[in-house]
Amino acid sequence: MGTGNHPVLFTIFGGTGDLTYRKLLPALYNLIATKMLPKGVEIIVVGRRDFDTQSYVEHIKPWIQEFARLSFSENIFNELVSHLTYIKMNFTDTKDYKVLYDYYNQYPQAQQLYYYAVAPEFFSVISKNLRQCSCLKNASTYQVLIEKPFGVNEDSARTLHKQLLEVFSEESIYRIDHYLGKEMIQNMMSIRFQNTIFKNIWNHHSIDYITISAYETVGVENRGSYYEQTGAIKDMVQNHLFQILSIVLMDEPEEHVESLFKNQADIIQRIIPIEANNINEHLILGQYEAGVIDHEQVVGFHGESNVSPTSTTETFAALKLFIDHPQYQGVPVYLLSGKRTKKRSTKVLVVFKPVNNQKPNVLTISISPDEGVFLSFNAKKPGNSQDVVEVSMDFCQSCVYENRLNTPEAYERLLYAAFNKDKSLFTDWQMVLSSWRFVDKLFLAINQSGIKPYKYKAGTCGPVELEAFFPKNYQEIDTE
Ligand code: BG6
Repeated sequence: MGTGNHPVLFTIFGGTGDLTYRKLLPALYNLIATKMLPKGVEIIVVGRRDFDTQSYVEHIKPWIQEFARLSFSENIFNELVSHLTYIKMNFTDTKDYKVLYDYYNQYPQAQQLYYYAVAPEFFSVISKNLRQCSCLKNASTYQVLIEKPFGVNEDSARTLHKQLLEVFSEESIYRIDHYLGKEMIQNMMSIRFQNTIFKNIWNHHSIDYITISAYETVGVENRGSYYEQTGAIKDMVQNHLFQILSIVLMDEPEEHVESLFKNQADIIQRIIPIEANNINEHLILGQYEAGVIDHEQVVGFHGESNVSPTSTTETFAALKLFIDHPQYQGVPVYLLSGKRTKKRSTKVLVVFKPVNNQKPNVLTISISPDEGVFLSFNAKKPGNSQDVVEVSMDFCQSCVYENRLNTPEAYERLLYAAFNKDKSLFTDWQMVLSSWRFVDKLFLAINQSGIKPYKYKAGTCGPVELEAFFPKNYQEIDTE
């Protein structure tokens, strides 16, 4: 049963889309396999395509075989499908909701979760239709899960928010940022707040600078038109990297979600805006050209389908930020994200101030593909000399088979949290608002200054202009 011993109705709008096939259904399968799915969950998949439940089940099987984290078992799959119903309907048509209403009526006491795995322009119409068909009966029992983008700037985010609030309360809106479901991002709070050795040096006296990077070898894949309208800043920085930044620097929250949300948003509100007159010191944009990745020739951004050959959208962004917080005065925080780079890697580096001209101590929190924490420091070279060498302590969490097996994937963790009404893994409205405010000002500065992306070859580390942007010792520190 769900949190209140009631059945749980989990309805997915957009049941024949990629997100459902690649992430949601495999996550549900994994939750069943690990016995983490609450008892009494019924999965209602809504789609426009002409399936019935039987043919839908046959259709999803290969997706689950390919994308579930845990190995495929007929028994687990059968258990999943025994809770699954496919409903063919057009979610923009109010009349079609009668069938949902009839279905829900069998479970008058149910906890209801709606997952909008559809484009944001449909959020409002689905919400209104749900209300109009009387599908939403008991306000305290329903939840809605939505995916980014939460708007494309502050104004559109507010409009979307207002539309959702016409039907749902803020408490029942669960905004997904799948980075919050990643193991090491959650682990970061324990690392920071449960260790004296880190807690007491997390300030400008000890930290020289911080980098937060998310590099991908993939290009825009089949999302050319979305990406051309969006770019690296809105696709990755405004949401995923700001989430990481807020967790890396926030004050220690009290043990309730409001405190966590407040402290996260506080950091974003304290980022000093980038202005047109100092933009070159704070921002580098890039766009990939054709190149070679993993021995394969790949096209440049302009050659991708549904991308204009004159597009100036950035596929790489490097921001140098300062935070107006007494603890981090003068500490630059570099946010870096790019597509078609040499290597796929997401990580945080905390570089400490060097002593006696030695190499700085560096704490690396590796988020993906490897997960772990690595600390480099200086020690005496073995032998008779007093020479100092850099050594390291490695905690590779994903190198241990059991850890890999027991680590849920982001969507698995997020669905589990939603079933249990745990909002701490979701994005709060103030966070959305604060991040758009910063990004809107940034785009104003970009337009006023007229800066354009530099070119970089696919398969490299980004534009060569980055070299002068980074602190002098960065190339030696991050050798990836
Ligand atoms: C998504 C972006 O939010 O995150 C994609 O829209 C990006 O462009 C993806 O590829 C990266 O996620 P991950 O988990 O692979 O780092």
